[in-house]
Amino acid sequence: KPRVVSGVQPSADSLHLGNYVGAVRNWVDLQDDNECVFFVADLHAITAEQDPAALAQRTRTTAAQYIAAGIDPERSTLLVQSHVPEHAQLAWALNCITGFGEASRMTQFKDKSARQGAENATVGLFAYPVLMAADILIYQAHQVPVGEDQRQHLELTRNLAQRFNARFGDTFVVPEAKILAESAKIYDLQNPVAKMSKSAASENGLIRLLDPAKKNAKKIRSAVTDDGTEIRFDREAKPGIANLLTVYSALTGRSVPDVVGEYEGKLYGHLKVGLAEVVTETLDPIQARAQELLDDPAELDRLLARGAEKGREITVRTLAAVYDRMGFLPRL
Ligand code: TYM
Repeated sequence: KPRVVSGVQPSADSLHLGNYVGAVRNWVDLQDDNECVFFVADLHAITAEQDPAALAQRTRTTAAQYIAAGIDPERSTLLVQSHVPEHAQLAWALNCITGFGEASRMTQFKDKSARQGAENATVGLFAYPVLMAADILIYQAHQVPVGEDQRQHLELTRNLAQRFNARFGDTFVVPEAKILAESAKIYDLQNPVAKMSKSAASENGLIRLLDPAKKNAKKIRSAVTDDGTEIRFDREAKPGIANLLTVYSALTGRSVPDVVGEYEGKLYGHLKVGLAEVVTETLDPIQARAQELLDDPAELDRLLARGAEKGREITVRTLAAVYDRMGFLPRL
């Protein structure tokens, strides 16, 4: 079976709708025909200053949301990145075959370091895409289901795999990004030309999976829409409506034209009310299941420990091959 690997950073108390629609939701079906590894990217969450007291809890909450969204810890491997030391070990090796200029060209680094101020950006933030490459290559992944914003990081991952293979002999599978065109980018409700993101300018632009239905419905009702009254899908002229239609379609599994057909001739407000219902119907069961899991943290931690054990069966072997090829003296 092909292997699939992906993860989300536990950098907030809840995932947002972009994480869900662009990534996690798409992982669920991949479990049928692939061998999947889904991890909580906690090592990535410290590239911006983190609150130590919050990090552990956010890591659990993120894992609980994976399961609540449909990731089955029996069929898939569900783990916490920091529980599997080979991620960080491989990252170091890959750092040493990554060009400084190459890493400097990562647009996410440029954006984030500009936002933090160049003086505050850390070496960790700079090396972040290389750690991401290690996350993928350590499992010999074939496919990586992510949103559009990770495309450049996947290109770097492929380049590093090919470079390593050429220099040291065939070691890594060269992975492919799996980016679903329709839902690859969910936009901020208040600024529908910027991606929905936890670091968004306005709190109202963001729908959180674990927020109360009322709060989310209110944000959807006040979403920025466009001039005119016509409901049709036009990303250029009507980015706000296009975004609402995208989310609607993704969450219901109905095509965009089908949804447009239902709302043709109706008002923007109707679409918003309809979407708020769809979001509530989707999130209610996820919230209930996540809460159950979080009520029993010992059981959740046990699941994660088992996941780390399963994951290490793969990662230990890859790292041994890497160290051997690179010429490290084997420890007796
Ligand atoms: P992160 O935590 O920023 O986002 C997690 C996933 O959600 C997707 N995403 C979106 N998709 C559509 N619309 C949006 N507005 C939106 N916002 C976020 C992201 O594309 C991603 O798939 N570096 C990664 C985490 C990571 C990773 C990995 C992923 C670390 N190692 C290895 C895959 C494989 C990140 O920061 O994602």
